[in-house]
Amino acid sequence: MDKLIITGGVPLQGEIRISGAKNAALPILAATLLADGPVKVGNIPHLQDITTTMELLGRMGVELVVDERMNIEVDCSTIRELFAPYDLVKSMRASILVLGPMLARFGEAVVSLPGGCAIGSRPVNLHIEGLVKMGADVHVEGGYIHAKARRLKATRLVMDLVTVTGTENLMMAATLAEGTTVIENAAREPEVVDLANCLNAMGAKVSGAGSDSISIEGVDALFGTRYDVLPDRIETGTYLAAAAITGGHVRIKDTQPRMLEAVIEKLREAGASVEVGDRWIELDMNGSRPRATNIRTSPYPAFPTDMQAQFTSLNVVSDGTGTISETVFENRFMHVHELQRMGADIQLEGNTAVIRGVNRLTAAPVMATDLRASASLVLAGLVAEGDTVVDRIYHIDRGYESIEEKLAKLGARIRRVPA
Ligand code: EPU
Repeated sequence: MDKLIITGGVPLQGEIRISGAKNAALPILAATLLADGPVKVGNIPHLQDITTTMELLGRMGVELVVDERMNIEVDCSTIRELFAPYDLVKSMRASILVLGPMLARFGEAVVSLPGGCAIGSRPVNLHIEGLVKMGADVHVEGGYIHAKARRLKATRLVMDLVTVTGTENLMMAATLAEGTTVIENAAREPEVVDLANCLNAMGAKVSGAGSDSISIEGVDALFGTRYDVLPDRIETGTYLAAAAITGGHVRIKDTQPRMLEAVIEKLREAGASVEVGDRWIELDMNGSRPRATNIRTSPYPAFPTDMQAQFTSLNVVSDGTGTISETVFENRFMHVHELQRMGADIQLEGNTAVIRGVNRLTAAPVMATDLRASASLVLAGLVAEGDTVVDRIYHIDRGYESIEEKLAKLGARIRRVPA
């Protein structure tokens, strides 16, 4: 397994561009199953989760053509199997996103249940309940969800809690349903809006995405189109946090600052001066140590759970005491134990981490446990004294395109060591 070795102590300086958003590209690739013609998706990030999605679609018999700029053209007319196997779903939970489109378009789907996960139990009951309310016949057997429906029927779905992929799955299913479906208490994440825009480009009639009430007027068929995925706000936030933790000065381009208001506000509270343009963000710490902040994660537009681990690292070296409350997932503090091995002073009290900032961290061998936890260890390595070795970085490769190249471009001393 590859490792990253980071020699801490360099304030990041310079400019990088942000890749397309993983969490928008995944549902959009699933949505191509709904179209009668080929869909060409651009600005796709080069990531392991994208490769897994392509493998999933490929095994179903879907034809995929990738060009050198990572535009992917998907043609579902050759589909043979309406099946998502356990070996792929267990390695990428977002595979569940093929359930709604397959059922809506082909009347049938067999998709493995994802099972547990490093950040929480993450059930998919709301995806299933929504489809059942739309008239699907669903049963779980042998670890698989078996779903059937002649044509889904529109209904009013009031979600028990805000779920991102749940909203996306049901929104996709509803595009071909009979009548107008309304999803109440819908997720408002920008990736949900991006998916809705893509669906509309395919001929769907989705309105209200970005609010908590999404309305989907079912149509008879969707068509091929061309669509570019929006920039990755979590990748953006991670590099901003990396600059802040090192006392650096960076400019991030090809991003959308509007999607990061809660994160930028916390960076300013931590002492960063942040300027934004239409598609760029510039952060300058003026060489100073960050100030501790209090964070509480919640669905968009509040502070994202996918930035929690990175801000935990920021607080670890900050001046003062900060608290981080995780309200979205029940077990998303695996990075805490690794950070403690580098000298962090963190106390876990239920879903809250109380962090007393320390003056210095010391490098240690640490282990990545999930995608964002891994990012937090890289951030800590950027300021630790000595060489931090981050093991199991396949987690990072799932969601950060060329992380070591981008950080090296900002001056970080980081290298990948093959297994
Ligand atoms: N939940 C249920 N039942 C359901 C669905 C969700 O109880 O049927 C619970 C979950 O267990 C969790 C909460 O609802 O406690 C919210 O989970 P959500 O469904 O919103 O998460 P997700 O859709 O599985 C997406 C992202 C995650 C991100 C979360 C929250 C994708 C592919 N994944 O997951 O991204 O953390 O939303 O914003 O969009 C990541 O990129 O590192 C990542 C984990």
